[in-house]
Amino acid sequence: MIWKSVLFSLSTRPSVARALLQPTRSYVTVAIHVNCTAANSRGTNLVNFTHPKSTERFPREGTGLEQARKYSCMSLGSRSTVPSPSAPTPVTVTLGGVTGRIICTEAMSTSVKKDKLKIVIFYGSSRPGRMVERVGTYVKNQVESQGMEAIILDPEALPMEILKVPLHFFPSPEKAPEWLRENDAKIRGADGFLILSAEYNCGIPPALSNLIDHFPPASYRHRPVGIVTYSMGSLGGVRAGIILRPKVSDIGMVAIPTAVMIPAVQNAFSADGQCLEERVAGNITKIVQELEWYSTAIKNQRAVKEPLPGPMH
Ligand SMILES: Cc1cc2nc3c(=O)[nH]c(=O)nc-3n(C[C@H](O)[C@H](O)[C@H](O)COP(=O)(O)O)c2cc1C
Repeated sequence: MIWKSVLFSLSTRPSVARALLQPTRSYVTVAIHVNCTAANSRGTNLVNFTHPKSTERFPREGTGLEQARKYSCMSLGSRSTVPSPSAPTPVTVTLGGVTGRIICTEAMSTSVKKDKLKIVIFYGSSRPGRMVERVGTYVKNQVESQGMEAIILDPEALPMEILKVPLHFFPSPEKAPEWLRENDAKIRGADGFLILSAEYNCGIPPALSNLIDHFPPASYRHRPVGIVTYSMGSLGGVRAGIILRPKVSDIGMVAIPTAVMIPAVQNAFSADGQCLEERVAGNITKIVQELEWYSTAIKNQRAVKEPLPGPMH
């Protein structure tokens, strides 16, 4: 699905369609180019009748993407997808009885790359006085300062008990609690993940396992993840990080090579989330940059080709 990349051009003239396809950070763009040879005044009239404006633009922010998606569905009738921007072959559709082509140009492909990446950040602690808030505040700012959207999943802020029924064990998803469905949508909509984990008794904090395990592997699959661990001692949570790596791989995330370990976390960050150590700040910048690279690469590939289903165990 590339709804986030399209601008409607209801012109029958290719030059107009192309001119409208300038990539933009602010608007969703979709192009429908009515086939010139088949199009005639009848075709033009029909399109104009369906869509009184010759151009529709939808803001990238707020409800713009959803409006564009609905508008696309309306215009394309029963088609639920538009072609990948990297597939240059025009796709023929019938629109109000007129056969037309959807064109995907290089300009659209550029605009896909400019979409703001969504990074979901998992907090791994729900303890009063937890250090994760210091680390999380800093990491969130770094993600945002590199032009990405940061979405925090905080076990403390969710109405979460010790796992009883994960989302995928509900006989029908609509019967699952709203908070589960809402947060599952955030995870599914993410382009990448960051996990912030302390080390509890040489392992993963229960709040983190509990949070992750509420959602199905399918919600995590085919997105990169960066692991940041910390502790108040000298090991920086490294043992939790080692255990986390196979866990995230098993649920289908792609663990990126860089990992960050933060010893004496209480000294590395101020209470308001300022990073006080150059080495730690540099490492966080590196993992966020690397995550941006992998998120972009995987996002582009997902737009070109549907990911394969998960493994059979
Ligand atoms: C139950 C528990 C077990 C812990 N076990 C370890 C441990 O195995 N290794 C370690 O370096 N620190 C350990 N610590 C200390 C944590 O690294 C430190 O408290 C850290 O701040 C916890 O993260 P949080 O403040 O975000 O909850 C443990 C802390 C708790 C509460």
